[in-house]
Amino acid sequence: MTDLRKPVALTGIKPTGAPHVGNLLGMYRPAIDLTQDHSCLYFIADYHALTSETDGARLRENTYNVAATWMALGLDTQNHILFRQSAIPEVCELAWILSCFTSMGLLNRAHAYKDALARGKADELNHGVFGYPVLMAADILLYDTEQVPVGKDQKQHIEMCRDMAQRINHTWGEDTLVVPEPFIREDVATVPGLDGRKMSKSYDNSIEIFLSPKKLRKRIMKIVTGTHSLEEPKDPETCNVFQLFRLFATKAQTEDLAARYREGGLGYGHAKQELFELYESIMAPHREKYDDLMKNLDAIDEVLASGRDRARTIANGVLDRIRSRAGLR
Ligand code: ADP
Ligand code: TRP
Repeated sequence: MTDLRKPVALTGIKPTGAPHVGNLLGMYRPAIDLTQDHSCLYFIADYHALTSETDGARLRENTYNVAATWMALGLDTQNHILFRQSAIPEVCELAWILSCFTSMGLLNRAHAYKDALARGKADELNHGVFGYPVLMAADILLYDTEQVPVGKDQKQHIEMCRDMAQRINHTWGEDTLVVPEPFIREDVATVPGLDGRKMSKSYDNSIEIFLSPKKLRKRIMKIVTGTHSLEEPKDPETCNVFQLFRLFATKAQTEDLAARYREGGLGYGHAKQELFELYESIMAPHREKYDDLMKNLDAIDEVLASGRDRARTIANGVLDRIRSRAGLR
């Protein structure tokens, strides 16, 4: 087992666009909270991004966006590890080993693969899309991970990872791999987007985390609402603006706004303005840090290089254990 005193938490995010508020609430914040009592490894899943991103310049730029987001949100990169997935090529070795324990039937049942099939022809989907859960399981198992902070959409991938780990343990001994658990916060398991569906890059309904105040306000004003007049009482529970507001607000702020919805006299435009102001009050300092970091990519490179070295040591320790049981050494 790895020589870390605290339980290990690990998560990844693909550099396929600027991170959004669904990522912030569903993944980044819970992951940063875990740093209190876990040893954390957080990475930029650039190998995974290759299933859909073929523009190298864009991949590189988004890799910096994701790294700067972690740092601007306050990840302590000295006591925890931030790295690029592709900096640890050993993950591909483990993915191969895992793939020999993974049935086609299991991969056929993956929601993400089934969604991709529904959108295109099976023969034209790349093998990376089909094998995605195997590489993701390798990411997790390579560091003896115990907790994986993610949004609800990733739950099935973690169950598949558990399945692979259990098969290997059954074959090579119960102490070969640590079987991980998903860490999913119920209140932010699926953060809604502008139209009330799950916020996602692919639905064009997301709010980027670090938009300038002007663009942010414009985006918030696009949230879909009911058509009640200003005077009419409104139901906060069914309003997309309120659903986002409550995820940033204190209990008192939430109750106050809910009461004003129910009273009438509060227009949707006002509610949006309040969401904008609340978000700004919390996120403006982080945006400033983010903008500074994006002007100093060398500092990000340094953090990623240090993360790479530390992650690689852990990865090789775990992989040696697996290689030796497999008869590869
Ligand atoms: P997207 O769906 O926009 O492509 P990603 O797949 O890159 O987002 O997600 C990265 C992380 O953020 C994952 O852990 C995922 O579960 C989480 N996440 C993404 N969207 C949401 C959301 N709307 N609510 C909660 N968590 C989310
Ligand atoms: N599949 C995740 C997503 O789309 C990204 C990811 C890759 C990941 N490897 C991981 C998440 C390992 C958690 C653990 O969001």
